[in-house]
This record gives sequence, C-alpha cells and structure tokens, in this order.
Amino acid sequence: MTKAIKNICCIGAGYVGGPTMTVIADKCPQIEVNVVDINEDRILAWNNPDTDKIPIFEPGLSEIVKRCRGVNLHFSSDIKKQIANADMIFISVNTPTKTKGTGAGKASDLKWVEVCARQVASHSIGHTIVVEKSTLPVRTAEVIKSILQGSLNSQGSSKTFDVLSNPEFLAEGSAIEDLINPDRVLIGGENDLAIDALSEIYLNWVPKNKILRTNIWSSELAKLTANAFLAQRISSINSISALCEETGADVREVARAIGSDKRIGSRFLASGPGFGGSCFKKDILNLVYLSEFFGLPEVANFWEGVVKLNDWHQHRISKLVVKKLFGTVSGKKISILGFSFKANTNDTRESAAIKICEDLLEEGAILRIHDPKVNQGQISNDLKCKSNNNNEEGTWNIYDDLYDSINGSDAILILTEWNEYKQINWQKVAKIVRNPAWVFDSRSIIDYEKVFKAGLCFWRIGDGLNKKIFKS
Ligand code: NAD
Ligand code: UGA
Repeated sequence: MTKAIKNICCIGAGYVGGPTMTVIADKCPQIEVNVVDINEDRILAWNNPDTDKIPIFEPGLSEIVKRCRGVNLHFSSDIKKQIANADMIFISVNTPTKTKGTGAGKASDLKWVEVCARQVASHSIGHTIVVEKSTLPVRTAEVIKSILQGSLNSQGSSKTFDVLSNPEFLAEGSAIEDLINPDRVLIGGENDLAIDALSEIYLNWVPKNKILRTNIWSSELAKLTANAFLAQRISSINSISALCEETGADVREVARAIGSDKRIGSRFLASGPGFGGSCFKKDILNLVYLSEFFGLPEVANFWEGVVKLNDWHQHRISKLVVKKLFGTVSGKKISILGFSFKANTNDTRESAAIKICEDLLEEGAILRIHDPKVNQGQISNDLKCKSNNNNEEGTWNIYDDLYDSINGSDAILILTEWNEYKQINWQKVAKIVRNPAWVFDSRSIIDYEKVFKAGLCFWRIGDGLNKKIFKS
C-alpha cells in the first residue's frame, strides 16, 4: 500500500522550487513543505515579511506565499535537518551548461545535482523518495541512484531510496497558472508504489487523466524534447520573419495562416527578438551533446541549427537598428524598452536584450534602459559593465520612468512585450525624441498607425511592408 507523504523537502529555492512548492503547500494543507537553499540571501528574501519582496516575481505567487508561509510552507537554510525530516525530496537545483572540461559549452553541469544526492545520502533517515525536478540529461537518475546506493554500502544503514523523474513544464510569467492547471504532470520511475505516492500529491488538484506515467528515461528525455520542440518553433518563425521582410509578406499573417492548421497549431508562433530564458538554449545544447555522445551527429546538427538561428536572429536585429540609423549609432541615444527575456518576469537569463544591447554598446550607442521589473544591478551583471549617466559613447543607464528613458533618444527599441508599452502615448513621444526618430517593434505590440501619425519612423519584425511605407 502507498504510504502517504507527510513531509516534503525541496532542495533549491529558485524559479522552479519556490513556486512549485508554494502551490503544493497551498493545495495539500496536510503536507509540511520545506524549501531549502545554500543561498542564504535567497532564503532571507523568501522570508521577507513583505511578500511583495520575495525574490521571484510571478503573477499570483506572493498572495499564495502570504497564505501558506509559516503554516505548512517554510523556507530555510537548514538543509541537513529538512532532509532528515522528509519522506520525499525534490531536487530542484540549477543545471547550467558546463563551462569547462568534457562537454564544455554543451553538456549540463551536474555538480549541484551530485552535491544534492550526496547530501540526501548522508542525512536522510528511513525510506526516502528522491524526485528529479531539475531538467536533467537522460540517464541522470542512474548517477543519483549510484550515489545513494554508495551510501548504503558504506554505512550499512537501514536507509532505502526510490528515484523518480518529475520534470517541470511551467513557463515563467505564468508559473502559478501553469502549476495549477498543467497540461500534464509527467512521472517516470521503476517502482509503482513510489509513483503512486507522488501521484497522490498531484491528485489533490490535477485530474487523474493528466498524470502521465512513463519509464524513467522517457520522462527525462521528454523534458529536453519538449523544450527543443518549443524553441524550434520560435526559430522556425523567426527565420520566416527575415524572409517576410525581404519579400513583402507579413509574418503575423503567415503565422495565422499556418497556425489555423490543427496539425501545426497557433501557439508559439510569435516572431520576436529571439528566444531567451535560462532553459531553451541550455536544454537544446544538452540534447546536441547527448546526440554526439551516442554517435548521432546528424541528430546533433539538426538541433544545433535551432540555437544557431536564434543567435543569428538576435544579431540581425542589432545590425538592422544600426543600418536604419544611417549606418552608425555612435554617440546616439537609444531607448531600450524591456530587458527581461519575456513579460511578467524579472528574469533576464539569456534575454535577447543582453546580446542586442552588447552589440549596440560595441557600436558606441548610449543606451537608456527601462524595464518595469529588472533592476540596475542585474543589468550591470548581464552587460558586464556599470551604468553611467555621463552620456559617453558605449554606455548605458536605467530609468524608472518610461518617458525619461525616451527623452532625447534617436530611437526606441522594444524588446519585451510588457503591457505598459502597448499604452505609450506616441504624440507625447514625438515631442521629446530627437528627430528623425525611429521606433523598432521587435514584439509586434504597437499600433503602427498611431506611431506613424505622430510622425515617427517605424519598423516592426517580419513586416515586408517596412521597406515601402515606413520610409526606409
Ligand atoms: P535557479 O538557479 O533559479 O534555482 C536553483 C537554486 O538551487 C539556487 O537558488 C541555488 O542556490 C540552489 N542550489 C544549488 N545547489 C544547491 C544545494 N546543493 N543545496 C541547496 N540549494 C542549492 O534555477 P531554476 O530556474 O529554478 O531551475 C532549476 C531547474 O529547473 C533547472 O534544471 C532548470 O532547467 C529547470 N527548469 C526551470 C524552469 C524555469 O522556468 N526556470 C522551468 C522548468 C524547469
Ligand atoms: C519554457 C517552456 O515554455 C516551459 O514549458 C519550460 O518548462 C521552461 O522553458 C523551462 O524548462 O525552463 P520559459 O522559458 O519560462 O518556458 O518561457 P517561454 O514562454 O517558453 O518563452 C521562452 C522564450 O521564447 C522567451 O524569450 C519568449 O519571448 C520567446 N517566445 C515564446 C517567442 O519569441 N515567441 C513565442 O511565440 C513564444
């Protein structure tokens, strides 16, 4: 019979661990949920009495944290104690691309996962179900099992373990909605009782037919494949946007036309400045590495093309801005609207804004950056240089007020689809920019007629009419 889980420990209080455990705590008041992290500042921030200041911004998250924190949801740095108390442990730590050694630049760095497995091996008591929540290369469960097994051999203890794969499919910006209404929950494993124990938790709010059970390797590989397929759609539509601009076609019309075919579907066909986020690139590169490792170079090349197209596309946008501004942006002010990798998140990891801003700084532009949620320190880290308000070539500064960032600019480049950018008063903008000023809409969120009426030049992604009506 399945033993009901009473105490969960989640290792990793990041973008996945924090929101996922918050929702589990909310939906399962009978379970104690402890989220632990080695990063004490992050834990302090999760415990901030003002839940609007928790470290991750996700619509709806702070309200649930307010409801559950201190009741059955706890954030702490006492990893040892919480592992010992838990009957189920989620590993939700970072798995970035390796930067050195074998597989550098492609393979996932599993050092944090390995540390977790060793911590669990040392501190767990009795039977523990270890759940891989992080995105991992296929066959990682084998590594985890052998570390756990090693501890049994060396200590001759009464500990026992099951290892399950339960990848997370939430997208940032809609994490809470995705967790509450998932398309599916995937559980891979070998022991039915362990799978049942995890299913029981999800069954508190997820319908049974949405809980998929697979073997452990299919579950691990399905997560990488899902991200690869999603990213592939974006590179596909971005490649077509470049062709649209050359031919007179409009990428929005092409997307609508192909998306009406049920076999293709309408979602994930919005051409933009290139995909960002912490996972698409790293997960595809991981797939590329695995394909090479298993002697499948054609498979590796196929998926690597998705990342190459994305890199090319991001540089294409910065080059295009330079070209439109008479071939030089040196000493020109460019207002950058949006720095996060998508709207409704403060996450900037792999954001297209980073590469595009770096290119423009290299060309000598003066960037005036605005983002409703990203702070100055984060941008300094990402651009690897500090802000500066001396208006020197190749520098940047951040502005809290949207119109302050636009003031005196030669161009406005929209990189994130924040709602407030859809409401910009273009008549007001026309009075404060340096004419002839350009508006570049890489997210297709602007009503171009209003921009045009205000007398500004306008370009948008994948619009073949750019050349004709928008005074190239
Ligand atoms: P993150 O960097 O935001 O959080 C990971 C946390 O783990 C960090 O706070 C880090 O300090 C902590 N950590 C690392 N080693 C630890 C250890 N030994 N003990 C305690 N804490 C430790 O990462 P994330 O975005 O939450 O991603 C986690 C995993 O989930 C990755 O594998 C990622 O691919 C996957 N994933 C992420 C998303 C997403 O939207 N970000 C979605 C689905 C899956
Ligand atoms: C993505 C997946 O959507 C999640 O299912 C997955 O769990 C997660 O990665 C992960 O494993 O980390 P996320 O990166 O948070 O989620 O956000 P997405 O909505 O997928 O957007 C990724 C990037 O693609 C963003 O830069 C976004 O602007 C871009 N995008 C998305 C487009 O350019 N066009 C689209 O049509 C959709």
